[in-house]
Amino acid sequence: MESTRDKLIEILSNIKDGYISGQKLSDELNISRSAIWKHMKELEKDGYEIEAKSRKGYRIIGFPEKPSENTIKWGLNTKWLGKTVIHRETINSTQILAHEYAQNGAEHGTIVIAEEQTKGRGRINRPWNSTKGKGVWMSMILRPEILPQQAPQLTLLTATVLADVLRSNCNVDPLIKWPNDILINKKKCAGILTEMQAEQDQIWYVIIGIGLNVNQDKDDIPEELQSKATSLYIETDKTRSINDFIQKILVQFEKSFNVYLEKGFKEIKEKWESYGFRIGEEIKIKTLKEEWKAPFLGISEDGALLTQSKEGREKRIYSAEIDWFHS
Ligand code: BTN
Repeated sequence: MESTRDKLIEILSNIKDGYISGQKLSDELNISRSAIWKHMKELEKDGYEIEAKSRKGYRIIGFPEKPSENTIKWGLNTKWLGKTVIHRETINSTQILAHEYAQNGAEHGTIVIAEEQTKGRGRINRPWNSTKGKGVWMSMILRPEILPQQAPQLTLLTATVLADVLRSNCNVDPLIKWPNDILINKKKCAGILTEMQAEQDQIWYVIIGIGLNVNQDKDDIPEELQSKATSLYIETDKTRSINDFIQKILVQFEKSFNVYLEKGFKEIKEKWESYGFRIGEEIKIKTLKEEWKAPFLGISEDGALLTQSKEGREKRIYSAEIDWFHS
């Protein structure tokens, strides 16, 4: 059940301009004016900035840095993404909780975020390191009206969204390593995990998990990963607001998703290719049967990597080990 405090924050968050009087709050929450005043003092202790003006009332002028359902929603400029936010301090994986919510009918655009994941998961069953408070650990529940075989396009779209957000806000030059690792200075800074429930010709829901390393310093990254993984703090020497990133990602995702639904995959594909790591260069491909070098030509409509076979014919690769750093 929603506590009085949560209701109070909600009411205050919903006042876009102006103030709300102590009397009105006391009527709406059914508590005394002095109880309201005590709640305000508690909120201030938690980092909310409250302005109290005589004869006008109260308003919130600043939210605490720590993400919560309210801080994420406050000032979030989206129409449908992030209208419902589920926030947990600690969780095994936001993907797992998002599946539960999706199965119970959570609406399109619901997001699940956590401060910390104890069993964060990456692609191909790899673990995903999710240090408390140091990154964006978020899963988005979508119910897109597209065919199941188009779902990989959403992953590619998400990668372009992350690259756009990083490029416009952090003064870095991100690249996307196929299919969806975001690299900064050749080290991985973010990853995307897409999971879905679908029938042959209908998607029930898609969950797009985003892990973005923001404020980790070197010691937060396990030693064996330090040559491959990085964070924005490590690359730019600046700590950043997690809340801010979440909002920027949501705004940019909603924009790109709308473009995708209206115009199809073409623009997203072109954008992806503009960020593609090693595009136009020679890569080394290793499948179960063979190994060869060929140019990385781009991506196809279904998200495959376009290259050439050993014989020089155009070839689509869906899964293979690629040696991106061969000499
Ligand atoms: C990868 O590059 O392997 C994908 C990493 C995806 C990590 C995110 S963090 C939020 C969400 N919850 C998880 O358990 N995984 C994804």
